[in-house]
Amino acid sequence: MKTLLMIKPDIVERGAYPEIIALLLRNRFAIRRMAMVAFDRATAERFYDVHRGKDFFPSLIDYMTGGPVVALELEGAAVVEDIRAFIGPTDPARAKPGTLRFMYGTSIQCNAVHASDSPEAAKKEIAIAFGDL
Ligand code: CMP
Repeated sequence: MKTLLMIKPDIVERGAYPEIIALLLRNRFAIRRMAMVAFDRATAERFYDVHRGKDFFPSLIDYMTGGPVVALELEGAAVVEDIRAFIGPTDPARAKPGTLRFMYGTSIQCNAVHASDSPEAAKKEIAIAFGDL
């Protein structure tokens, strides 16, 4: 099973992404591919298609196109669930110590990382992030 973890622009900007990569490795997540990618608006909108029409959508697209992200393809038996447990809930204020969003998130929008919520979403998101045809 594969999934996508994406480190968001503000974390990349402040140089904290190597710490997150080190934490992933120390927790034995297997990284198969990794890339620094600058999303254009059309690509970010396609990536977050399920949120189109929600009040936070325009601001989310501004944020996600404000600088490059780091995309990581992870592989493991239950990696979709395991990485979501490791990042914590969407709102960093509700995240538990030890989770990435607790450590690096600063608001519900600037929540440090994104992880696919299902194997189907992972397939689509990996293809978009890595520009697979
Ligand atoms: P992510 O897991 O990447 O999925 C959608 C993103 O929209 C979310 O993390 C946040 O960055 C952003 N967002 C902003 N406001 C909200 C909100 N009220 N609920 C959910 N997601 C939000």
